[in-house]
Amino acid sequence: MTARSIITIDGAAGTGKSSVAQLLAKRIGAGCLDSGAMYRAVAVLAKDYEIDPKDGPMLAAKVNDVGVSFNWNNDPPTVMLGGVDVSERIRELDISGIVSSVAKQPEVRAVLMNQQRIIASTHPLLVTEGRDQGSVVFPEAVVRFFLEADFEERTKRRTKQLLEAGKDVHPDVVAEDIKNRDRIDTTRSDGPLICAEGAVVINTSSQSLEEVVETMERIVRDAMKGS
Ligand code: DC
Repeated sequence: MTARSIITIDGAAGTGKSSVAQLLAKRIGAGCLDSGAMYRAVAVLAKDYEIDPKDGPMLAAKVNDVGVSFNWNNDPPTVMLGGVDVSERIRELDISGIVSSVAKQPEVRAVLMNQQRIIASTHPLLVTEGRDQGSVVFPEAVVRFFLEADFEERTKRRTKQLLEAGKDVHPDVVAEDIKNRDRIDTTRSDGPLICAEGAVVINTSSQSLEEVVETMERIVRDAMKGS
């Protein structure tokens, strides 16, 4: 795995990371890693095994025991806990409610960072999105993007996403969830959501998905030519 083969996209919930990452990956023929899905899968483990979301060592041990992985044959790749597909379960609001606590635990972050690097080593070209992919996990990536969007727009997008997935949610509940996760994600000591030095910042509030991806693809292709 060389620096040329990794593109990172970080940003807060609702900035459009996931949609943008999937489209960009398709356009440049890369795999697409949703690192947030891994943290969400660990939150499912906490629920299923009744582990305290703040008990990092216990959660990390459970991850090693059960295994968090992706089935790369599906598009987008499905998230697996052991042999079980939890792709839908990880999007439930009860999981969103505890995932930031889980993601705050250094033991959990260490285990997942290790797995993210292993995943990267098995892909010739990878777009990876999350909170710390460019700042901590892959600081050597060829391009590191940081996406931003206005709070209202983020709430609107997240609500639409959940409604489309058949979840019965009220925008106020979604707004509260985003606010709460922002606070925890930006203030944790290990791998906080920060804009890494040298990252390319894109505000997606008033741009279409297509426009954002177009810009990113151009930047990536230029960088890959030059590196
Ligand atoms: O992107 P998302 O909303 O699915 O992420 C779920 C949670 O996981 C979010 O609260 C932050 C956390 N996360 C993280 O701490 N580091 C990452 N690289 C990705 C997600």
